[in-house]
Amino acid sequence: MQNKITALFNIDYPIVQAGMIWASGWRLASAVSNAGALGLIGSGRMYPEVLREHIQKCKAATHKPFGVNVPLLYPDIDKHIQIIIEEEVPIVFTSAGNPKTWTSVLKEQGIKVVHVVSSSKFALKAQDAGCDAVVAEGFEAGGHNGREETTTMVLVPAVSAAVEIPVLAAGGIATGRQMLAAMVLGADGVQVGSRFVACPEASSHEKFKNLVITSAEGDTQLTLKQLTPVRMLKNNFFAQVQKAEQQGASVDELKKLLGRARAKHGMFEGDMEEGELEIGQVSALIKEIKPAAEIVKEIWNEFEATLKQPLK
Ligand SMILES: Cc1cc2nc3c(=O)[nH]c(=O)nc-3n(C[C@H](O)[C@H](O)[C@H](O)COP(=O)(O)O)c2cc1C
Repeated sequence: MQNKITALFNIDYPIVQAGMIWASGWRLASAVSNAGALGLIGSGRMYPEVLREHIQKCKAATHKPFGVNVPLLYPDIDKHIQIIIEEEVPIVFTSAGNPKTWTSVLKEQGIKVVHVVSSSKFALKAQDAGCDAVVAEGFEAGGHNGREETTTMVLVPAVSAAVEIPVLAAGGIATGRQMLAAMVLGADGVQVGSRFVACPEASSHEKFKNLVITSAEGDTQLTLKQLTPVRMLKNNFFAQVQKAEQQGASVDELKKLLGRARAKHGMFEGDMEEGELEIGQVSALIKEIKPAAEIVKEIWNEFEATLKQPLK
């Protein structure tokens, strides 16, 4: 397929594997890129030299384009950006911050820049900042999310109408049918997160992967809206947050409850009760742990097959 997204990134399919903290290191990103989609290393919470190592290993594992996701809410962003430039990474996806801060710095180096947004207003800001594309990430998505709760179904047509740059739909997309639906809504491609957590190449803990494939509808919720809203699986930590919020906890009390390294503790180290387990609503549709290349092929084959089918 040839469209604006495949042309922008020089890839075979308009499918991006989302940058995901504690899940998408060089193994996952290179496997996805080798399969003809775009793999992203999730740099959030990586020490700068760890990021460099992931980039170098990714370059050794694939000759195809890959990118780095830089959530702008973490420390060391300037060091991450410097390493990305030094290592000549061709594509950067920024998120959770102001696209004006780094876009021009990256673009001056010839790097393609995409920003993740949760509203048309922010999509326009990303376009004004000079981004090459935006990810319209809806309420269903795993991980950090917008406060306004706009669903992918509403966000994608709204953002597609608002901007002229290409749009990748994200949030609740794990199958070819969902990809087709997103593209009918106006997207030029998709960014898929949760589906790639449940694959051998993801660095997430096995217990987390197994919990993802056994979770059901209603098992995730967007929470911590007073701090940084995040969609996670309901566990003991989630129950504590909910109780604290119901009792009117202040921002400082919630910060204290969250503590340090909750997400690492859960998703990477495998504490399924006390850790923060970020995953999207679509986990309810994910039933198997599968190699990344198979996931790409499966999404693409279902997309093509569904495109040829008459409607019910
Ligand atoms: C485990 C996990 C970690 C995530 N970490 C990040 C991150 O570090 N940076 C980011 O921009 N988005 C992050 N996200 C959001 C994804 O990039 C992506 O937009 C989202 O997963 C798409 O929705 P889906 O989960 O329904 O596919 C994360 C999502 C998950 C599930």
